[in-house]
Amino acid sequence: MPKFNNILIVGLGMMGGSLCKSIKKNKLSKKISAFDTDHDALSYALKNKFINYKVTDLGKMEQPDLVIICTPLSSYLSIVKKLLLKLNKNTLVTDIGSSKGGTHRTIKKLFHNSNKSFLSSHPMVGSEKSGVKFTRKDMYKNKVVFIIDKDSASRASYFKLKSFWEAIGSTTHEIDSKTHDLLMSQTSHIAHLMSFIFVKSLPQNILNDNLPLLLGGGIKEHIRLSKSNPQMWTDIFLNNKNNIIKTLTRIQKNTATIKSMIQTSNKTEIKSLLKNTYNKTK
Ligand SMILES: NC(=O)c1ccc[n+]([C@@H]2O[C@H](COP(=O)([O-])OP(=O)(O)OC[C@H]3O[C@@H](n4cnc5c(N)ncnc54)[C@H](O)[C@@H]3O)[C@@H](O)[C@H]2O)c1
Repeated sequence: MPKFNNILIVGLGMMGGSLCKSIKKNKLSKKISAFDTDHDALSYALKNKFINYKVTDLGKMEQPDLVIICTPLSSYLSIVKKLLLKLNKNTLVTDIGSSKGGTHRTIKKLFHNSNKSFLSSHPMVGSEKSGVKFTRKDMYKNKVVFIIDKDSASRASYFKLKSFWEAIGSTTHEIDSKTHDLLMSQTSHIAHLMSFIFVKSLPQNILNDNLPLLLGGGIKEHIRLSKSNPQMWTDIFLNNKNNIIKTLTRIQKNTATIKSMIQTSNKTEIKSLLKNTYNKTK
């Protein structure tokens, strides 16, 4: 029997659309509703039968029992303000945003002040692709989903959210928002940033003339990540600003160190640095 009556996905892009497909595949909800400012995305999902209802006005929606916000972080505040006017106390709201910085703190406070339930999530899945046409029904299977600041919601909300993600095929892991953002700044966020910088620094003539000859594994991966959604990543970098600046400062220091070793042809030091780096992930 489905666990939910009506799950509402706000933001029917690559992540939100894939969630709809997973909810449908796992028969988790009697109804799957979706809201998106892009009406073509809604029509596409209806036509391909991975949502049952399109919501065109959040003020007129049927009451959902679970809402999952899957839009870029910069759109959260206006969406949450509209949701709060309409939702009742039994509805749990979560989101899948990649940073739990400023925006997260603001909306958590709004929910707290209005006595409505919010508990944030972050699935460790995704890709550089954007939009509903890149959705996959197994996107969340066997993947980790962080549940953020577990104690900020009731135990019932926590178990509702945990059981939702587990029913999708994911494994949940609790983390606090500060540790989450620090961890992301040192891993996923900085990896994307380094790829943007790498491709920005590639001379255009190499990209125009020689790229197919050079597309080995490493370069290919940087180019793939640099194709990630600019709006989404601007939001992430600004929401996790302080941590990312700290990581960038460390990288600048290491860059200066190796630059000086190369400038002085210090073979021993270069080799030792590379060997230490190799051993770090043994
Ligand atoms: N892409 C990833 O790898 C990944 C991984 C984990 C988490 N996330 C998070 O998931 C969220 C969505 O990412 P995505 O990759 O699915 O992006 P996407 O661009 O594929 O989809 C975003 C969708 O939100 C819609 N949208 C934008 N503003 C809106 C608004 N004001 N109201 C309603 N709909 C609106 C867009 O029309 C689009 O359909 C982001 O917050 C991101 O941080 C992404």
